[in-house]
Amino acid sequence: MEFKDVIEKRRSIRKFTSDEVDNQLLVELIRLATLAPSAHNRQPWRFMIVKDDKKDMIVSMMNEFYDKYKDKVSKTMPFTASVIGESKALIVVFRDGLKEDRYLDTLSIGGAIEHICLGATSMGLGSVWINDIDPVKEEIAKYLGYGDLEIVSVVAIGYPNQDPKPRPRKELNDVILK
Ligand SMILES: Cc1cc2nc3c(=O)[nH]c(=O)nc-3n(C[C@H](O)[C@H](O)[C@H](O)COP(=O)(O)O)c2cc1C
Repeated sequence: MEFKDVIEKRRSIRKFTSDEVDNQLLVELIRLATLAPSAHNRQPWRFMIVKDDKKDMIVSMMNEFYDKYKDKVSKTMPFTASVIGESKALIVVFRDGLKEDRYLDTLSIGGAIEHICLGATSMGLGSVWINDIDPVKEEIAKYLGYGDLEIVSVVAIGYPNQDPKPRPRKELNDVILK
């Protein structure tokens, strides 16, 4: 696929088939992520592939948190939890332990996450970048054995079982400042 076509074709995918995703493909997505630019070439990202029971545990953490604190968190949290439940794998994206340069490192990690999403599209996979784990991200990091690192986002991945139309974008005239 032409690179521009990959960009045009990428959508957030929230429905997945029951087909498993090979770990090899997920490792390839992580390799692509590590090709992203990073401030001072710090490469502040760390990645973990999470599947099966551990992924289900993350879904339970999100649902339990939402049931307790529904007035305080995003209304989309339970839906996002169900999307994670239906996906076949998560790539959990952590920031390394460094406390300085958090802003630059977050920018760098955002680029790496987009490489994962575009890479997934180019490989016929569906993905969705997820931040609704935010209220439970410390709990998840501890559960995964990396309580000393900060989770930035997770990407849910699987084979797409939907072909959504492009979501609306602002007009170019509204985003190009003169
Ligand atoms: C930082 C970030 C956080 C996001 N968090 C979520 C999320 O928690 N749940 C979800 O379903 N989609 C999430 N999305 C996906 C957006 O909703 C989606 O990108 C947007 O609606 C545009 O749709 P498109 O990706 O299909 O173009 C997130 C996207 C970004 C960049």
